[in-house]
Amino acid sequence: MQHRTLGSQGLTVSAIGYGSMGLTMAYGPGDEQEGIAAIRHAHDLGVTFFDTAELYGFGTGSNEILVGKAVKDFRDEVVLATKFGFDLSVPREQLGRALNSRPDNIRKVTDNSLRYLGVDHIDVLYQHRVDPDVPIEDVAGTVKELIDAGKVKYFGLSEAGPQTIRKAHAVQPVSVLQTEYSLFERDVEQLFPVLDELGIGFVAYSPLGRGFITGTAKPAGEYDATDMRNIDPRWQPGNFEKNVDAVNRLSDLAAAQGITVSQLALAWLLTRGEHIVPIPGTRSPRRAEENTRAADITLSEADLAAIDEILPRGGFGARYAQMPTWI
Ligand SMILES: NC(=O)c1ccc[n+]([C@@H]2O[C@H](COP(=O)([O-])OP(=O)(O)OC[C@H]3O[C@@H](n4cnc5c(N)ncnc54)[C@H](OP(=O)(O)O)[C@@H]3O)[C@@H](O)[C@H]2O)c1
Repeated sequence: MQHRTLGSQGLTVSAIGYGSMGLTMAYGPGDEQEGIAAIRHAHDLGVTFFDTAELYGFGTGSNEILVGKAVKDFRDEVVLATKFGFDLSVPREQLGRALNSRPDNIRKVTDNSLRYLGVDHIDVLYQHRVDPDVPIEDVAGTVKELIDAGKVKYFGLSEAGPQTIRKAHAVQPVSVLQTEYSLFERDVEQLFPVLDELGIGFVAYSPLGRGFITGTAKPAGEYDATDMRNIDPRWQPGNFEKNVDAVNRLSDLAAAQGITVSQLALAWLLTRGEHIVPIPGTRSPRRAEENTRAADITLSEADLAAIDEILPRGGFGARYAQMPTWI
C-alpha cells in the first residue's frame, strides 16, 4: 500500500482510507460484526486511515465505539479521524441540519469521542460543517487548545470554503479538507488551488458517489426506508437513468482492464493529485478488499481520456437535496 502526506504538519496515511458512516447510518441497517470485520480486513491489506464522526452515532457514540472496538489491537498503527459540529439534541429527523461549533461543545464532543473510541488522542479532528454562528477563528483556537493539550494531533475542515479555510489556517494550521469528490462530483476542484497554496491535503468523501459508481444502484424507493438514497437527487427519475448509463459505460471500460467500476472510480481519484486520499465506505470485508486494491491500479492516459469523455463534468443531479454551501 502506498502512503500519502496530507498537509504540512506530518500527517501520513494509506493512499486509500476507509469511511465508517454506513455502518450505523445513511444506507440502511448495518451489522456490527460485519463492520468490524470490514475494518480489520482493510487494515490487514494496509489501510491505516479510518474516518468516523460524532454525527454517525446520533449522539450515542455508536459509530465511534464500533470503530474503536475494531482497531483496538492495532490502534497505534492507524490514523483515526472524527468530527464535531452538530447539535444532536434536536429530533432525529433534523439531525445533520442543526449546527453547534461553540467552543464548549467542541471540548465536550472531543472528550466524548476519546471515550467512545477508547483512545488517549484523536489523530484528526474535523469541524464537520462550518457554523455561521461561530467565528472560525474561535473554532480553530479551540482545536489548537486541544492539540496543545495532547488530545488531538491534526486539524481538519469539512465542506469549508476558501475564506473559512484561510482564516482557520491562520490560527491553527489545517492539515486536511474533507469534501465530497468523485466522478459524479467535480465542483470541489475549484478549491484545489487554495489547498495547494496553503499546503493542505484533501480527503475525498463519498468517492463512489454514495454507491452509485459501483454498478449496484437501484431506483429511489427500492432501498430500505432509512436509506438516504431514496431522496438523493441523483437517484430521482430523469437523473437516475442518465447516471446508470454513465456507470454502465464506465463498467465496460473497467471490465476491459480486468478491474471493477468501483476500482476504476477510486483509481481515477488517486490520479487527481498527490494530496488526495479517498475514503470509500462499505459494510462488507469483501468490498473493503475490492476498494483497497484500487490503490495498486494505474490508469493510462487513454483510460483517463475515455473516462473524461463519459463524464466530463460529473454526474446528473445535485449531491444533496439540501446542498451545503462553501462559506
Ligand atoms: N464529511 C462529511 O460530511 C461526509 C459525508 C459523507 C460521507 N463521509 C465519509 O466518507 C465515507 C465514504 O462515503 P459514503 O459512505 O457516503 O459513500 P461511498 O463510499 O461513495 O459509497 C458507499 C456505498 O457504496 C457501497 N459500496 C462500497 N464499496 C462497494 C463496492 N466495491 N461494490 C459495491 N458497493 C459498494 C456501500 O454499500 P455496502 O456497505 O453494502 O458495501 C455504500 O452503500 C463515509 O463512510 C464517511 O466516513 C463524510
